[in-house]
Amino acid sequence: MSMHIAEDKIADIKNAADIVEIITDYVVLKKTGKNYVGLCPFHSEKTPSFTVSSEKQIFHCFGCGEGGNVFTFLMKKDGLSFPDAIRLIGKRYGIEIPEKRHKEKNRGFDEKEILYNINKMAMMFYKENLQNSKAGKMAFAYLKNRGMKNETISEFDLGCAPEGWNHLLNYFSRKEVSQKIIEKAGLVIPRKDKGGYYDRFRNRIIFPISDMSNRVIGFGGRVMDDSLPKYLNSPETPVFNKGSSLYGLSQAKQKCRDSETVYIAEGYFDLLSLHQHGIENSVATLGTSLTGEHVQLLRNRYVGENGKVILVYDSDVAGIKAAQRSVEIFKQGYVDAQILVLPDGFDPDSYLFKFGRESFLEIAEKALSSMLFLIDSAVNRYGLSIEGKNRIVSDMIKHFVMIKDEVIRSLYAKELAERLGIDETAIVRKINDAYETMSRETRKKPGKSSEKAIHDGIKKDSLSINGQDLYAEETRIEKHIIAMMLQFPEILPEIKKRDVLKYFQHANLKSIGQMIINKMSQYNGQVSEILDTIDNMENRNIITSLAMGKEVWNLDGCLKLIKQFESSRSRYDDDLLRRIKAAEDSNDDKLLLELLKKKQAKANTFKHDLESSGGKSK
Ligand code: UTP
Ligand code: MN
Repeated sequence: MSMHIAEDKIADIKNAADIVEIITDYVVLKKTGKNYVGLCPFHSEKTPSFTVSSEKQIFHCFGCGEGGNVFTFLMKKDGLSFPDAIRLIGKRYGIEIPEKRHKEKNRGFDEKEILYNINKMAMMFYKENLQNSKAGKMAFAYLKNRGMKNETISEFDLGCAPEGWNHLLNYFSRKEVSQKIIEKAGLVIPRKDKGGYYDRFRNRIIFPISDMSNRVIGFGGRVMDDSLPKYLNSPETPVFNKGSSLYGLSQAKQKCRDSETVYIAEGYFDLLSLHQHGIENSVATLGTSLTGEHVQLLRNRYVGENGKVILVYDSDVAGIKAAQRSVEIFKQGYVDAQILVLPDGFDPDSYLFKFGRESFLEIAEKALSSMLFLIDSAVNRYGLSIEGKNRIVSDMIKHFVMIKDEVIRSLYAKELAERLGIDETAIVRKINDAYETMSRETRKKPGKSSEKAIHDGIKKDSLSINGQDLYAEETRIEKHIIAMMLQFPEILPEIKKRDVLKYFQHANLKSIGQMIINKMSQYNGQVSEILDTIDNMENRNIITSLAMGKEVWNLDGCLKLIKQFESSRSRYDDDLLRRIKAAEDSNDDKLLLELLKKKQAKANTFKHDLESSGGKSK
């Protein structure tokens, strides 16, 4: 760990942090009974199995098995170290951490922090320049001419870069910021010939781009005349990744959550216009096409699994291209997109400018789901002659195979059949054949297995730990006992007294149990507390899954469970002996060896027991 954080600060932060509040920034959570559920951010799923308990301050995904407390969540989700997760939460709840730094080790985190700061300073510089300089006057007039209101200009922190090669450079050198780090932020470019740097953005309107936590991650800049390139964007930096960033997201996120709908446009001005016309649940991509990451982000954190995503495009050609891509992307993320193509020559900005909000919402209402949109465009392109229909079907097959859900696939097949006036079963057969071929091929390629296979893989891993099946019948009761220990700590002294754990067969469960007993004095029933001290991820996941239960415990029930376990153990022994006998009788050497190993393991378990209790035990 690169820095020391005082224990009492950690305790303060632990007390302040609320897991539901923090995870809500990442996942759309719905309350069901005592817990909250949502779509797991750690694997792709269609129905929510990611569960968060406010009472226990833990999360667990019953799909992929991932679990932990608020700190492990941030560590896993954002790739933070434990102290960084502590710091992040401390910051959020206004708890200051005095810290001694050991610089070298912590460079990654520090560098990002520095870049956010540099970007923020640059944003202030550009803003100031728009408001208070002579050059700014022209930029301001340009924005006004494009219908931008003062509120929009200030809400989106618009600015302008002055003409000239080194205004920003000088600004930073006055503040004694090193040129290397400004270069790293993508704000200046090294000169090829004589060394030194020059400003990347010159004589442009500046659009600061922020992430959902409102940190400035990059910039877009537009010329104010017809010169080229029209737009310039920051390059990718350690804090700026275009494939996962969306312009306007931090301003839009609450509205996206509330309306469970998001409009995705292509340009900066499109986004600003949408926002200005009260369509605030809008974002824009940053001169790149929409990616799966964008979609996952919007779906998991903002609009939810049944949310509506509407892509707004300014022409048929762009629309068709986007729709094709979106079928691919969206079907993997299990959200459907609707495609809204504006009349010829309009983009959202110019459409809203000319026709206004009502008209926009009216045509948005008629946006087609991406598959229907593709069917429509194919019909328009090829016509309904026999030859045309044939081409439409073979064209559409490649989109159909992207859809994993068989029911949805057949619904669209039906739609296509109806549109073309041909027999549905013929189409369905063709699609299913193509789908089979495709999934056979992906199954063959190990590196590129289907999502489902990956999912199954995760699940299997969490089922069988160190070769011991966590879901075997014989471990069922052991799991039940650990769940009891986690959920009803009053029973811990009894478990210790009767040394119940000694009889455990499953190694992980046994070590988890021992750890709970060891921490008994500190363990005040708050499961999330013990998770911090467990480095073994499998054990952590087992704990959260067992702690999440809904059972109501009482002392009587617990004692009964312990007794039942003790007698099942002796039954297991009898059973083992019987099976050994049977294996001997049938000369099954392999089975016999296996059973004898079990018996040996068992004997080792009890050796210590027998010694310490003078042979009285069992
Ligand atoms: P458009 O060319 O459609 O421009 O580019 P626009 O958004 O309508 O802009 P205005 O209305 O003329 O001001 C759409 C988006 O593509 C990216 C920008 O993000 C732009 O908003 N783009 C475009 C670039 O990154 N570089 C360019 O040179 C042009
Ligand atoms: Mn435009």
